[in-house]
Amino acid sequence: MNDRFLRACRREPVDRTPVWFMRQAGRYMAEYRALRAKHSMLELCRTPELSLQVTMQPINRLPVDAAILFADILLPLEPMGAPFDFAAGEGPVIFEPVRSRAQIDALRECDPHEGLGYVLEAVRLIRRELDGKTPLIGFAGAPFTLASYLVEGGKSSHYVRTKKLMYGEPDAWNALMAKLSNVVAKYLVAQVEAGAQAVQLFDSWIGALSPTDYATYVQPHVARILREVETCGVPVIHFGTGTASLLELQRDAGGSVIGVDWRTPLDNAWDRLGPGVAVQGNMDPLLLFAPKDVLEAQVRRILGSVRGREGHIFNLGHGILPETPVENVQFVADLVHQVSERA
Ligand code: CP3
Repeated sequence: MNDRFLRACRREPVDRTPVWFMRQAGRYMAEYRALRAKHSMLELCRTPELSLQVTMQPINRLPVDAAILFADILLPLEPMGAPFDFAAGEGPVIFEPVRSRAQIDALRECDPHEGLGYVLEAVRLIRRELDGKTPLIGFAGAPFTLASYLVEGGKSSHYVRTKKLMYGEPDAWNALMAKLSNVVAKYLVAQVEAGAQAVQLFDSWIGALSPTDYATYVQPHVARILREVETCGVPVIHFGTGTASLLELQRDAGGSVIGVDWRTPLDNAWDRLGPGVAVQGNMDPLLLFAPKDVLEAQVRRILGSVRGREGHIFNLGHGILPETPVENVQFVADLVHQVSERA
């Protein structure tokens, strides 16, 4: 059983630094594109047998130390009463964006065993198929990041409607965040019960907030989710991007591993976070497009910057992009293992 990922999450000594990649299953792989030619993104997510196949694609091709469930952070929105789809070239589209107090009150706090049973079934299938080859990471979106899609109706650059609601109607905002948090906490616990050996909370767009606003409008909700999930006893990765000014607040909200993007040097981030957490990151995903010598120097730089500390999980600072050359991903995974091999 390959447990170096779980050992690093717990800050225990490892034989080599574990590595996996956010979005390690996806369009940069020919195997994925072949399946996507036959099925929509939502079909892949909603069919446990297909989710299993896609989850295993990077495991069968790359020497990664963890599998991540193939699903999407937006899946809970549909059973909550806000259906959506992925439109080609546009990303997610929420059919009826949620902008009023009445719409927030109408959202359902669905039971994950009912509305998201297909994800839990996929978790069970994947665990059986992995059979100890790597641990399985489950995940969910954090309430701010989910709310940004739910309120805007899709991707956004300035989060105008989201912040209007947050600043202008704090009671409605807190009601929305509380509902999302209840669903996310129950969903993560259900994934662990189905077999996920670690979970990651994606707060991808949290860097849009100042530290004061994060502390006021978001942190209490995230802390509540993480307190509940931590009772499961598995490592919890708390991830965001653009978090240079938020890292300490994120740590205080909870999580045993903090995901750090490439804008903050990893050793500097870890000094600020302190010795009580593991760290995951933090290579710029765009470096996967750089010449091999540049890529190699940067992998060595990141590993060198945290050498001697227990609890580093090598990853990108955000997900792999669709145009990424697979051979460069392979190259990084091999290099991380080779360079970090302990004497
Ligand atoms: O990491 C993995 O391999 C697991 C699967 C995974 C996906 N999405 C698959 C996916 C995970 C963990 C996510 C998380 C996710 N989804 C986040 C948080 C992480 C991040 O990247 O910031 C967010 C914000 C979403 C919402 C989402 N899903 C968007 C904005 C898009 C469109 C993006 C695009 O590039 O078109 C998706 C679709 C999506 N989720 C794809 C995949 C592989 C592409 C689907 C396709 O067209 O084949």
